Amino acid sequence: MDLEMKTSCEPDGIEVNTQPFILIIFGGGGDLSQKKLLPALYNLFKLNKLNNDSYILSYGRKERTQDQYRDLVKTSIKKTIPGGKNNIDPRFLEKFTYLNGDSEKLEGIEKINEYICNFKGIKKYQIIFYLATPPNLSKNILNLIQNLELCDKPFKKKIVMEKPFGTDTVSAINLNDNLQKIFKEEEIYRIDHYLGKETVQNILFFRFGNSIFEPLWNRSFIDHIQITAAENIGIESRGNFYEKAGVLKDIIQNHMMQLIALVAMEPPANFEADCVRDEKVKIFKSISSMSEEYMEENLVLGQYGTGKIHGENVVGYRDEKNIVRDSNIGTFFSGKFHVDNWRWAGVPFYVRAGKRLNQKLTEIVITFKTPPLKLFGNVCRDMMANELIFSIQPEEKISLSMNMKYPGMENYPHPVEMNFNYSKLDTVSLSAYERLIVDCIKGDLTLFARQDGIEEMWRVLDPIVAYFNKINLKFPNYSAGDWGPVESKFLLEKDDRKWRI
Ligand code: BG6
Repeated sequence: MDLEMKTSCEPDGIEVNTQPFILIIFGGGGDLSQKKLLPALYNLFKLNKLNNDSYILSYGRKERTQDQYRDLVKTSIKKTIPGGKNNIDPRFLEKFTYLNGDSEKLEGIEKINEYICNFKGIKKYQIIFYLATPPNLSKNILNLIQNLELCDKPFKKKIVMEKPFGTDTVSAINLNDNLQKIFKEEEIYRIDHYLGKETVQNILFFRFGNSIFEPLWNRSFIDHIQITAAENIGIESRGNFYEKAGVLKDIIQNHMMQLIALVAMEPPANFEADCVRDEKVKIFKSISSMSEEYMEENLVLGQYGTGKIHGENVVGYRDEKNIVRDSNIGTFFSGKFHVDNWRWAGVPFYVRAGKRLNQKLTEIVITFKTPPLKLFGNVCRDMMANELIFSIQPEEKISLSMNMKYPGMENYPHPVEMNFNYSKLDTVSLSAYERLIVDCIKGDLTLFARQDGIEEMWRVLDPIVAYFNKINLKFPNYSAGDWGPVESKFLLEKDDRKWRI
């Protein structure tokens, strides 16, 4: 059963009118820039969503000529955008200037100062700093920014900080203190690209735009919730970063906590950034702290060994580039969380994420309680519980499973699905990074994390990280291409439940 989108009002499409800006990317030649930022900027440019009067200054450690950097921009677009093999519009490439410098030395900043000071009519531009760099460089880069002349002048400025914000509670607080010396809270955009995904945003629209689900959205009707972010890629060329972050800091502390909050939060007073963020912070605060005994029973950490992905042999984590041979970093995590508040007391949130798993799959499954009676007599199988599934990847769709009578003489309830699939809409939607870049230029903080939320997320994660650092797990404990260590399966089976996939 497919659901069609009916138009109840005429949406204006995506607002185009972004102000003129100069975007200064630190880590302009890095992995994140090449895979996400540069392609996102190009798409926005092609869709005419960027003000023509906008420029990009990329700053990186490596020495490169302007032509070499523009070649890098071209290659990254060609690799990541379908149809990107066609010629790249030269007007886009002309927006770029590349400067090289060390993030630990002040020399590089002179070049940025010069660029800005010589810029004609500079006062009309907002300056956006984007730190597309690992968390350990943030402090030095902020120190460089603080020494920029423009910081003493009344420029409109903003900063985008990538996740993870800090590496634990203390470092997140310190990082924030450094930031606050230069930027006001409303100028700080702590990005988590999951919040820019259409289906993720749709969780709130679905919950609070329909009156039929909200009365059921609580412990009386919902049995449990499963959140999965499975990837079949490995750590690719990000060994240095991953050895410090692992799955816990790379995905659980940010993307997964945000998904829990969107599913669990109360309706905000309105859709202003701070009202939405207030409600999310309340959920982070309600996630219960865990004792070591609880963690031993209810959390699983894993690391992939060799195996097969799409029929091809792949190496184990310890054999990837820039990885310590006896590394104890986790590439898989699953665990049972509880949101201890009135609405959710007793409802488990099972969370699972990992690299080199069987398939690329990101989804949230809300499993309702089964009907109280087997009313239809001798049915050949148990009635399936209704499931509401927000699929985020590989397809963006929402489906609801229900039981129907199977045609025939026997009383046989048969599950059917109602589906709404974004790909069937005849409209252009922006990718997560595109959406968030536009929000930042426009000054909308709704889909960005706030400092109190970040600290609460670390409060949940710090003891988990400390626990796994303390115990000695034998890694690798799952083969590439599996669904993680076998204990992850038992985690739900102990509760008489199963992962949906
Ligand atoms: C990033 C992580 O935040 O999210 C990566 O650093 C991960 O390790 C990526 O691969 C997954 O994003 P997506 O949008 O493909 O689910």
